[in-house]
Parts: sequence; structure tokens; C-alpha cells
Amino acid sequence: MTPRRILVYHPHEAEAYARLVKAPKAAIRLDVCATPEEAAASIAEAEILYAWKFPTDLLAEGANLRWIQAMGAGVERFLVHDLPPHVRITRATGMFGRWMAEYTLGWCAWVAQRMETFREAQRQRRWLALDPQPLHGRTLAILGLGDIGSAIARAGASLGMRVIGVSRSGRNQRGVAAVYPPSALTRALSQADFAVAVLPLTPETRGLIGEAELRAMKPTAWLLNIGRGPVMDEGALVGALRRKRIAGAILDVFETEPLPPDHPLWALPNAVITPHISGPSVPAEIAPVFNDNLRRYLAGRRLRHLVDRSRRY
Ligand code: GLV
Repeated sequence: MTPRRILVYHPHEAEAYARLVKAPKAAIRLDVCATPEEAAASIAEAEILYAWKFPTDLLAEGANLRWIQAMGAGVERFLVHDLPPHVRITRATGMFGRWMAEYTLGWCAWVAQRMETFREAQRQRRWLALDPQPLHGRTLAILGLGDIGSAIARAGASLGMRVIGVSRSGRNQRGVAAVYPPSALTRALSQADFAVAVLPLTPETRGLIGEAELRAMKPTAWLLNIGRGPVMDEGALVGALRRKRIAGAILDVFETEPLPPDHPLWALPNAVITPHISGPSVPAEIAPVFNDNLRRYLAGRRLRHLVDRSRRY
């Protein structure tokens, strides 16, 4: 049996991912790559690509590619026009919800518990008797109710928040008080004390939150974006934050990453910037998904977490 060639690609942790691949030695051969140059030398032979931040332009050279397993949740970088239709793409799923729920609720608590204010008062040795705001009873709107959005919904509900959501289908979901279709996005946003966007980047979601959507929000509301930067119209967001049309924004993703040093968002006191860390890919958490799919692939069985290429997620 000729071994199946697997290109393992990650700019910093390729070795760690490769060490965790489980398959009979004779069945596979691993090419472990950390740079575009290394990947360029291996892509033509690769049947399976297991990758994070893979150089998109190299996909066209993957003449033998049959399956791409993303090490992350978002797959837009693999959905290039010239990727032949027989190449299956699978996502990593199941591990990000917990991380992103902690991020979301953590930053909601940062707002409600006035953490920055109290730390600042402490630095000034000032006894600032100011009540926190509750999270219980406040409305958390979740844009995108996939496995990550659903985990955030459970976490919000566990603190007594009123959870509402927006999903493609608009179908009711357990634990979510009201689910709206995308056409009712502003209705959902208008109720939110906190709104969190956890949407994939598709032609439908690009620029989804713009001037009108921000205007629909309460002036006391906070907006979090933890999915993909281009879902937000950044110019409109900067304008809304400057004019205090919303209270603030917690942003983990941006149109351009890393966020350029001269970007106006850095300087806004009501914007919090984190460097795309809300749902980290941890080799030991991703490996079981890949290994399960690899077993299936080698046995000619159906892969799990397949991307619907027409929906683009
Ligand atoms: C991170 O952004 C991912 O797609 O997993």
C-alpha cells in the first residue's frame, strides 16, 4: 500500500500537530511544514492537508489533494475558486465554544463589574463606592447560533441573562428566548445590552453590521466581534464609537490582522482590542477531530464536520 501523504502546516506548531497524528505507520507519510516555502515543496504530493493559515495561493498547486482538515473553525481561506469540487473540507468543531463563551462572558463581566474603573481607583488609592451592574436580567444577543454561539448562549443563560439570537434559519432553539432570521437583525440588536457576533465570513455576512445596525443598538449597549472582522463595517464602527452611539466594543477580529498600528480603533477609550485569541486552536484539542476523520478517510467512510461549499461554512 502506498502511504497517503499528509501535509501538516502551521507557522509555529506544525511539529506539535504532527506528533499527535495517529495512524498505522505504513498508512501515512507526514510532510511537516512551517513556512510557505516548505509547503510549496510538498503541496503537489499532498493528498491530505491538515493546516492553519495555509498560504491560499498554494492551493491551486495541490493536484493530488482530496481532503483539507482545517485546524480552526473558519474555513474561508480554503474556499478559493480554483479548488476542485472533489476536495472535501472539514472544520475543527466542538472545542471553541467553551473558550469563546469564557471570552464573551469574561468581557461582559469586565464591563458590568467595572473592573477597569476599580483598578484605576485602586491605583489612586481611592475608595470608590460604586455598585456593579448586573448581568442577570440583561439581554445578550448572539449573532450566529452554531456550536460556538450555542455554547455562549448556555453560558449567558447560566448567569441569568436573557439570551436571544440571530441565525440563518431563524428557528427556535432551546435556551434561547427568541431567534430571529437575518432579515430581523436590527430587531434583535435593538434589544441587546450585549451583542456578540460569532459569524463565519461569507458573501452574506460581509459588512453585515454597518451604520443602520449600529444605529439600532441602545447607546448603553456593548458589541463584541469574535468571529470574523469583515462582518463589521469598521468605518461605521469607529464612527459609532467616537460619537458614543453605543457604549463600547470588544473586538478580537479585524478587517486587517494584525490590526495596523495607525488604525483609529487602537486609540478609542471605548474599544477593547484583543489579537484574535478568543478561540485558540490547541493541538491536543484539535487532534481528536483530525484523527477521527483520518480513520474515516482511510476506511473510505464519511468525514465529519464537512463544510457545505455552497453555504461557505
Ligand atoms: C479562528 O479564527 C478559527 O477560525 O478557528
